[in-house]
Amino acid sequence: MGREDFVRQELGMLHGMPLYKSFIEAWPQVEAFQARPDDLLICTYPKSGTTWLSEILDMIYNDGNVEKCKRDAIFKRVPFLEMSVPDMPGGIELLATMPSPRLVKTHLPVQLLPKSFWEQDCKVIYVARNPKDVVVSYYYFYQMAKIHPDPGTKEEFLQNFMAGKVAYGSWYSHVKDWWEKRKEKRLLYLFYEDMKQDPRPEVQKVARFLGKELPESLVEKIVHHTSFQEMKKNSAANYETLPEWVMDHNLSPFMRKGITGDWKNHFTVAQNERFNKHYKEQMKDSELCFRMEI
Ligand code: A3P
Repeated sequence: MGREDFVRQELGMLHGMPLYKSFIEAWPQVEAFQARPDDLLICTYPKSGTTWLSEILDMIYNDGNVEKCKRDAIFKRVPFLEMSVPDMPGGIELLATMPSPRLVKTHLPVQLLPKSFWEQDCKVIYVARNPKDVVVSYYYFYQMAKIHPDPGTKEEFLQNFMAGKVAYGSWYSHVKDWWEKRKEKRLLYLFYEDMKQDPRPEVQKVARFLGKELPESLVEKIVHHTSFQEMKKNSAANYETLPEWVMDHNLSPFMRKGITGDWKNHFTVAQNERFNKHYKEQMKDSELCFRMEI
């Protein structure tokens, strides 16, 4: 696939899940991916804090050495497993030459994760974010990341999101299925809202999950370096080094707002009521609880 076909391409279907056609083309290699036992998988539904957690993990892996964490762009330091874009090295390619221990990013739902991760018993960290902020963030991301089709109006996008007709499918299934998985696997489940409210205990949780105990001073350093303001101006973290035909930050910056509750600036009263009703229905079989504000 060339650049012309890639930009604003309609989504295809991968085992019933809407996904970018360029990713679907590369799927056989993704499915056959060989995980290593010391791989750490960062897993999220899109727009839930993936980049934030990735930067936190790279800081922990590099003992808080900021210069080392600026050695390359975040999408090279933490390769995106199923990513495949014309004229750029894909996730599989980047991971093949990467020394261990690797940090690996994915947005795949439980049932599509390459089985090697389970065979190798890899640790997984999942971050979930409340769906109202996710859908707003996703709407702006659809505009700036040219791999997406046109999002349409906010109303249209909201309806598509609720119906699971966006890239990576249903948010509801994604968060619920990964939540269930934590009962049988080595999986740490975090919430964006907790990280936002106070990142310190969440950073410690992550470190402990990796078998480390961090001194307070190091936690402080990590929290500072991975704050929204710092990451927004850090070209190794803010995606600004990608070419404009992939992401156009003039349409909307990747580091957009980084807050909880921005949905209140976008949802109408009617949309909010409709969303709440649908949310309740979709989540009634789960003990998962999301905070829409903090
Ligand atoms: P907004 O669009 O609401 O601002 P992902 O990395 O999963 O694609 O998620 C992107 C979202 O996380 C964006 O949300 C982005 O601004 C936000 N984000 C990125 N880094 C952050 C940080 N350090 N603190 C808080 N939010 C952050």
